[in-house]
Amino acid sequence: MAIGVFDSGVGGLTVHHRLVERFARADFVYLADQANAPYGGRPGEEIVDLTRAGCQRLFDEGCDLVVLACNTASGVALRRLQQTWLPGLRKASGRPANVLGIIVPTIEAATGLAWEAEPERRGDKVENLDILAVFSTPATAASRVYEIEIDKRREDVAVFSESCPELARMIEAGAGRRELAEVIAGHVKAITARIGRAPDRAILGCTHYQIVADLFRQALPAGTPLIHQPDALADALAIYLDRHPEFAPGTGGRRRFLTTGAPGAQTSLAETFWGAPLTFEPA
Ligand code: DGL
Repeated sequence: MAIGVFDSGVGGLTVHHRLVERFARADFVYLADQANAPYGGRPGEEIVDLTRAGCQRLFDEGCDLVVLACNTASGVALRRLQQTWLPGLRKASGRPANVLGIIVPTIEAATGLAWEAEPERRGDKVENLDILAVFSTPATAASRVYEIEIDKRREDVAVFSESCPELARMIEAGAGRRELAEVIAGHVKAITARIGRAPDRAILGCTHYQIVADLFRQALPAGTPLIHQPDALADALAIYLDRHPEFAPGTGGRRRFLTTGAPGAQTSLAETFWGAPLTFEPA
C-alpha cells in the first residue's frame, strides 16, 4: 500500500516533505483539494464532507492509511469520520483502513505528554504560566481544540489562539513574501496585545504557515520556540506503523501528487519550499 497525505492545498507538503525524508522507501500519494481550498472559512459540515471525499479518493488510489496534513480537517472532521464512516468502510472493503490527524501529535509535542497519559494535577497556584500562541485558520480557532485539549493536560500552559483568515488563501495563491510578512506581523502584534506580553512558544497550527515559518520567526521575539508539526507527525507515524504492521507502507519510494484543482506546476512559493519543480496530476 501507499500512505496517503491529504490537505486542502500546498500546506500539507510541509508534512509530506518531512515524511518522505523519514520514510524514504515508503510509497506516498499526496492529494491537494485545491478546487475547494481554503477550508478554514467553511462551515463544519462542509469540511467533514470534503475531508471524507479526499480520504475516499486516496483509499481508491490504493492507500490504506491516510494522514490528514491539515489542522482544519483534523480538528473539525476527523473524529466524525472515525466514528461514523471508517467502521463501515472497513467492513465493506474488508481492508484495514485508517485516518490519522495532525492535532494529537502536535499536542503531544506541545505538552510533552503522550495522548493517553494521566495529566499531572498539582492543585496549587501556577506561578509562571507558559504562554502558548496558536496561529490557525478560523475553523480551527473556532473549534478551540488546542485550548481544550492542552488545558486538560497541563495546568501550567495557557493557550491563546489567533485566527488568520486570509493567510492560507494568500500562501495557496503564491502571494509575495513582503505582503505575507506584513500580514503575519499584524497577527503577531494582535495576539501579543491580547496576551499582554509576547508568547513563550508558538504552534503554526495550519500546515500552510510552515511554508513561511521564517516570517513567523522574524515577527516573534528572537528565539521563540516553534513546535514543529511535521516532526511531531513523523514521530507519531513511526510509532503507529510500528504498532500496526497491517499497514505496510510499500518499499518502492513512489511519490505521486494529485490535485482536484488545475493540474500542473505549483506556485514558486510552494516550489521554493519543496526545493524542486512540483507538478500535480489531476485527481
Ligand atoms: N493547511 C490547512 C490547515 O492546516 C488548511 C488551510 C485552509 O484550507 O484553510 O489548517
